[in-house]
Amino acid sequence: MRSKLEDVGTTIFTVMSRRARELDALNLGQGFPDYDIDPRLTELVGEAMRAGHNQYAPMEGLAVLRERIAAKLSASYGLQVDPETEVTITLGATEGIYSAVQGVIGAGDEAIAFDPAYDSYEPSVRLAGGRCIRLPLTQPGFRYDWDRVRHAMSARTRLLLFNSPHNPACSTAHAADLDELARLAAERDIVVLSDEVYEHVVFDGARHLSVLAHPGLAPRSLAVFSFGKTLHATGLRVGYCVAPAALTRELRKVHQFNTFSISHPLQHAIAAYLAEQPHCGEGLAAFFQAKRDRLRAALAGTGFELPKAAGTYFQLLDFRAFAGPDDRAFADRLLSEARVASIPLSPFYARPEPLSFVRLCIAKRDSTLDEAAARLRAFAARS
Ligand SMILES: Cc1ncc(COP(=O)(O)O)c(C=O)c1O
Repeated sequence: MRSKLEDVGTTIFTVMSRRARELDALNLGQGFPDYDIDPRLTELVGEAMRAGHNQYAPMEGLAVLRERIAAKLSASYGLQVDPETEVTITLGATEGIYSAVQGVIGAGDEAIAFDPAYDSYEPSVRLAGGRCIRLPLTQPGFRYDWDRVRHAMSARTRLLLFNSPHNPACSTAHAADLDELARLAAERDIVVLSDEVYEHVVFDGARHLSVLAHPGLAPRSLAVFSFGKTLHATGLRVGYCVAPAALTRELRKVHQFNTFSISHPLQHAIAAYLAEQPHCGEGLAAFFQAKRDRLRAALAGTGFELPKAAGTYFQLLDFRAFAGPDDRAFADRLLSEARVASIPLSPFYARPEPLSFVRLCIAKRDSTLDEAAARLRAFAARS
């Protein structure tokens, strides 16, 4: 049978997690917390099920949850979003990305994504019949080359995929980046899909810059978010997409035949949780910054360089003192020799660059981070 995604295999996250289990290694590869979620959220899920919210939820999402999201966006960014026409509950951010891409991209259209790119972007574009043009962020620091973007744009370009805070680069976009993005998108009337799942994880006192708060970008952007990240519970699979009514209509046309509607009891539980803790996202930056700093301090002087992550719950590890720029080989070595699973960056590239980084997830108990650091220190001392 002809495969529609011939070159797509099992993702690197699944592969590394499986190997970590086989080798009983610490899994700092796949991005998920290893600590408990707030027990109050667990209670609220139980309450929602006992209250009988166990049949189909509305296609666009529960009204009360969409209202809470609008209130959250108002508190975070001073935005006035219409929950009725501009907010849609999706199955994690992943479905938001997929449905948004299907809603915008048609056969022969082009989308531009920046490498290293989150792995669902290109397959979503290709399954819509489009072509994904992948432009690398430039070193050092994974910055945008806007001239290159301008050259890559054509009459066929329909969509720009943007991600800040950026996984796996751990960088954040600057205000000037959003201005350039807005200028270029306006030139050719391009839609922007902004992946903002780490909106609350921005370090060192900086603030997240949402496309929704940018006057040039808001009218042409869909932004996706994830309660999996905000509530430390990646298994909830509840996210949302915020976009002007016209774009939301297109997104919902796909959403209703893709997932149709999202877990009803979970939506009730999250709405109730947000009512009790409307500012629950605000503590995330300090929480993860402490973990970032803990890991960086524990690995100081080992030969590993840890470029200071500006955001996300990841931290890059620069291994150039130990090996050449073959990141898959080095991730394998860390797994077998240090029994620490990481994620190489090359799978996030269409044309891998000779970089010497692997990505570590810092959304782990302090004891997990300490043990991982001890294993990496021992590895460095032996190497
Ligand atoms: C940049 C980025 N986008 C999207 C997602 C997917 O989010 P969700 O788990 O809500 O589908 C992730 C998850 O790791 C991510 O890192």
